Amino acid sequence: MTPWKTTNRSAVHPDGSFIVFEGIDGAGKSTQAKKLAEKLSELGIPTLLTAEPSQSPAGRIIRSFKTRPDPGEEVRLFTEDRRHHVQQVIQPTLDAGRTVVCDRYVYSSVAYQGARGIRPEEIISVNRAFAIAPDVIFLLEVPIEVALTRIGAGRRQGASPFEARENLESVARIYRSLSDPLLQRLDGTAAVAEVHLRIVELLRGLAHSAQLRRVLASDGSSSPPFS
Ligand code: TYD
Repeated sequence: MTPWKTTNRSAVHPDGSFIVFEGIDGAGKSTQAKKLAEKLSELGIPTLLTAEPSQSPAGRIIRSFKTRPDPGEEVRLFTEDRRHHVQQVIQPTLDAGRTVVCDRYVYSSVAYQGARGIRPEEIISVNRAFAIAPDVIFLLEVPIEVALTRIGAGRRQGASPFEARENLESVARIYRSLSDPLLQRLDGTAAVAEVHLRIVELLRGLAHSAQLRRVLASDGSSSPPFS
């Protein structure tokens, strides 16, 4: 079961692409989302980098959590945040022909709220009502040990309430179980530059946006030197 009825949204956003990054905390998705957005902008593709939880009122409540609310309330807040984000940011940007790179989307709810006992089917059916389909979802995969080391090294304040090991293991298990033709799984343990190259290569091969195909096809700078 996927959250989207159709995997072909090119009729809806013919030029701009909707690219999503997913993964557990510490997988490197924020770094890769930023690098890709910069790369596309450099190539002349107008690109918006955005993230969930977003800047909506619900997103601000989520970011202010000291302890997690009950699972039902958590789902409600993330859903409200996503609905606002889609309506106010993602859809208008795509409608304007621009590309959207989004750090976390529906599968973050499936994995993180799923890890708290909410059934994935329930989360998917709530999101299906409003969450437009991405063109591609890059899922960065890293072992828990690597993720925990990165989180520890990168955050002076210590782990957030979301980042306890046991929780992260459940989240990773759900990410591993996902099956969706939109998902592209990537080894997130490779060097940042290498993962980035792989993402650009994969995008070049995906036929969802004429603009993206055209620009990436004529850009040789990201080809690996050894190919
Ligand atoms: P994260 O991407 O880690 O943001 P930041 O790097 O700014 O801290 O997201 C914050 C947390 O929110 C993360 O642990 C995952 C969680 N989350 C959910 O539980 N459900 C969701 O639907 C989303 C979008 C995020």
